[in-house]
Amino acid sequence: MKFIISTSNKNEKQGHELVIVPAFKSKSKKAINISDWDPSFKTAFNKIKASKFFEGAKGQIFNFQLENGTTVLALGLGERSSVSLEILRCEAANVCKKILNQHSEVVLKISQFALKEDFERSVSSVIQGFLLSSYKFEKHLSSKSEQKLKKVVLEVDSKDSKAAKKALQESLIICESVNFCRDLVNEPPNILNSETYAKLVEKDSKKLNRVKVKVLGRQQLKKEKMGMFLSVNAGSAYEPRLVHLTYTPKKVTKKTKHIVLVGKGLTFDTGGYSLKPSGSMMNMKFDMAGSSTVYSAFRAASLLNTDVKVTCLLGITDNAVNEKATMPDSIVTARNGKTVEILNTDAEGRLVLGDVLSYASDLKPDTIIDAATLTGACLVSLGHEMCGLMTNSDKLANSLLESAKEVDEYMWQLPIIDPFRKDMKSNIADLKNMGGSRFGGTSKAAAFLENFVDPKIAWAHLDIAGIGDSQSHLPYCPSKGASGSIVRTLTHYLTNI
Ligand code: BES
Ligand code: ZN
Ligand code: ZN
Repeated sequence: MKFIISTSNKNEKQGHELVIVPAFKSKSKKAINISDWDPSFKTAFNKIKASKFFEGAKGQIFNFQLENGTTVLALGLGERSSVSLEILRCEAANVCKKILNQHSEVVLKISQFALKEDFERSVSSVIQGFLLSSYKFEKHLSSKSEQKLKKVVLEVDSKDSKAAKKALQESLIICESVNFCRDLVNEPPNILNSETYAKLVEKDSKKLNRVKVKVLGRQQLKKEKMGMFLSVNAGSAYEPRLVHLTYTPKKVTKKTKHIVLVGKGLTFDTGGYSLKPSGSMMNMKFDMAGSSTVYSAFRAASLLNTDVKVTCLLGITDNAVNEKATMPDSIVTARNGKTVEILNTDAEGRLVLGDVLSYASDLKPDTIIDAATLTGACLVSLGHEMCGLMTNSDKLANSLLESAKEVDEYMWQLPIIDPFRKDMKSNIADLKNMGGSRFGGTSKAAAFLENFVDPKIAWAHLDIAGIGDSQSHLPYCPSKGASGSIVRTLTHYLTNI
């Protein structure tokens, strides 16, 4: 699907295959508000007797023809005053899915869609609706569906063309990164293992701006004394990988901020000896979504040439079972010297993240943000719709919550309190990897992670166990499979500090 920005309706005579215009519901009467429409559109519309039933309610569609053969699709958006960027994104997604296999070209009267106060972000929302909703994971299908829609023309007033170009450029990068994230998460574990995953990221990172990459393997992790990370990998047929990427902005001064992103990259989570029941094990290929989320945001931030220095650390392994796999009751030593009693080998994400967070702290950044499909408890507390946020810094909490709000993703802060910290202490080691009960499991996992972060550094932990997939409530996300959620929030955060 290719996007083109056009400043005139020069094809008026020949007409177009399809033109989409917005229609707004009137506050007072049952009539619709079509005051922005071209006169020829109004005439053709009003001629149709059934047009009186079209109110312009959100999601309502009315098709009609112009004399020049153009099909016009009037898309209801509800009352103009209640239209939001998310409504534009969702309605663009819905209409895109409708026409995707029916038309090859479409013209969008984008200036008419735009919210008065926010032209650029309105254009971005519509483009995002198209690009995110048309995503399909068909790599492994022998017969792939052919998408008919090839060209989307965004018709803008000439005064808006610069802003539209900027919105298009940025949206293409962001959506490509969200879809890249989805591809990674959807890839099955027999294809995406720790070694192939690290190679794939290394290769992709070559396309980015001012990015360096190094990949640490088992020997280097041993040198780093990452006893927790290595204990998770003990039962694996593949070597562990720590992918370390750095992005340097064009200009670096003493004031340049340094943000480190950390991601849980479990290419598959069987639970280990604390084996998951088969129903819960299904889909555990998605347990690397934290790593693909932070990498995709890092990727977008680099392509958008953000002004901050960004490091991205991906802790990659699977959690499998063989005769060498770590047994419950084992005690291991973390990179920072703390000892940990492993009561449940299924609480493995925190073991990988803990060592990578300690490595991140040694880089002495201003901020560390990790993302992980860390706890089933997050689904219980916040559902599939909400990302959990836990942090040691109110300022960072506010920035991340604000970023999420700006891009219409749901994020909710959960507390880390002393009783949770206490529950993660063991009698025979410094810590245990599981609390005394599953209650409050999301926050208790964060209380565990906190032990591996330098308290002087602002740190936030994002639990994406719910939001990583199955976003059936969002028309621009696949209802099954990877969502790519939170890539937009993190990209916004990285490009607006
Ligand atoms: N990867 C899972 C978390 C998960 C579970 C994400 C279900 C999405 C859906 C994680 O490694 C895990 O198994 N956590 C355990 C921790 C428990 C043993 C303390 C959990 O949540 O049950
Ligand atoms: Zn697990
Ligand atoms: Zn896991």
